[in-house]
Amino acid sequence: MANIIILGSQWGDEGKGKIVDLFSDRFDIVARYQGGHNAGHTVFIGLKKFILKLIPSGILRPGKKAVIGNGLVLDPAALLDEIDTLEAAGVDVTHNLAISNRAHVLFPQHRMMERMSEGRPGRISIGTTSRGIGPCYEDKIARRGIRVADLLDRDAFRAQYDSLMEEKHAIARTFGIDEEDDAHAIRDQYETMAERIRPMVCDTAMLLNSAIREGKRVLFEGAQGTMLDIDHGTYPFVTSSSASAGGACTGTGVAPTRIGGVVGVSKAYITRVGGGPFPTEAGDPEGEQIRRRGSEFGAVTGRPRRCGWFDAPLLRYTAAINGFDSLVVTKLDVLDEFDSIPVCVGYRAGGKELTEMPPRVACMENVEPVYERLPGWKTSTFGMSSYDELPARAKDYLAFLEARVGVEVGSVSTGPERTQTIVRAGSRLEALLG
Ligand code: GDP
Ligand code: IMO
Ligand code: MG
Repeated sequence: MANIIILGSQWGDEGKGKIVDLFSDRFDIVARYQGGHNAGHTVFIGLKKFILKLIPSGILRPGKKAVIGNGLVLDPAALLDEIDTLEAAGVDVTHNLAISNRAHVLFPQHRMMERMSEGRPGRISIGTTSRGIGPCYEDKIARRGIRVADLLDRDAFRAQYDSLMEEKHAIARTFGIDEEDDAHAIRDQYETMAERIRPMVCDTAMLLNSAIREGKRVLFEGAQGTMLDIDHGTYPFVTSSSASAGGACTGTGVAPTRIGGVVGVSKAYITRVGGGPFPTEAGDPEGEQIRRRGSEFGAVTGRPRRCGWFDAPLLRYTAAINGFDSLVVTKLDVLDEFDSIPVCVGYRAGGKELTEMPPRVACMENVEPVYERLPGWKTSTFGMSSYDELPARAKDYLAFLEARVGVEVGSVSTGPERTQTIVRAGSRLEALLG
């Protein structure tokens, strides 16, 4: 039985949390491999709403193990806050969560560095989630980061912390930033938080590999989306981690030979939060109509999401980067009221057809999307759970996406709840789920 990766095929917020929660009942372990509390994965179970940020969505299934892999950046305060919220709602986190001893620790000073760089005149503002994610990954790559294992060794931690913070404050002073910052108090808080985290920390790469050897199944949960990937996304308007399928291996220590399938999650349209190019962004009133019907507001920051039409060239690109076996198309119901629905089938620039995703933002900003308009179905699909029930035009729409992307649509989501989902009989996805 395959271990699979489920990840975002657009700019995030595709509905990964709902899908991971739904499919996690077929797996023993759900592992996050990158990102931090910039993620916001919303899961509805009946009337209860959960927003998972650092903790894998699989935690909501009693008895399943959830893993925070080495590829994440971990803000202990955000983690403990999330644990407390979930436990108050009756979810047992402490007995089911394993945290990598190699994950990097995020400090308030990382947020300070982010405020400095995002606010600096003349610098391109990325429109980040302001969680300090980028600066924490910067420290990791610069080989001066502090990892969870370091945090748990008090003497080593003090020395590393003091040296790292001395650097941060020197940089802040250079930029004339006068941030009141009590570095010692923060260090004490981290030492206290370390003790709460300690029982959950282990070598999660070994845990995952032993479990796989014993025949247990692992579901890898992506955060953000492929177009926000540090290498393959719309750089520099990206996040600082490997959100695409390759990140699942580096971010957990599980080899590619142990992974049997990759599933992309895509909205029936597309959204983006923050700055950066967005070829199929819809103007109002249609953009506003998608936003309203899809409640497209950020789960973490509450920012209105930019809304647009399904972009088939973008999906072909992310399908290639990730090797999608199957696509889950979410939020089909959001399109129920449109008379007709544009789908981008190609890009043109300077009068020529583009056959590749432009590597530079300046080029991508000038891309002219080529649309085909499909007739809307003008009837509610909300909550439908069988493919046969879907109106003929909705089926035609899905078949069109499938043909234009070149990957099967193995599943369709018609509402936020578990039951509001279709898995197509005979699909590759059905076989992967087992
Ligand atoms: P994630 O970050 O990829 O997990 O996605 P988010 O949770 O940030 O955003 C997706 C939003 O859409 C959440 O509020 C979900 O509850 C909701 N959602 C997921 N699937 C569907 C669907 O098929 N229809 C509707 N109407 N809402 C959905
Ligand atoms: P989930 O997992 C959508 C975006 C931010 C910004 C850029 C960089 O819920 O899909 P960062 O704080 O990561 O340095 O910001 O990435 N971004 C997301 N957009 N969904 C997310 O997560 C995102 N996480 C980061 O808006 O444009
Ligand atoms: Mg989200």
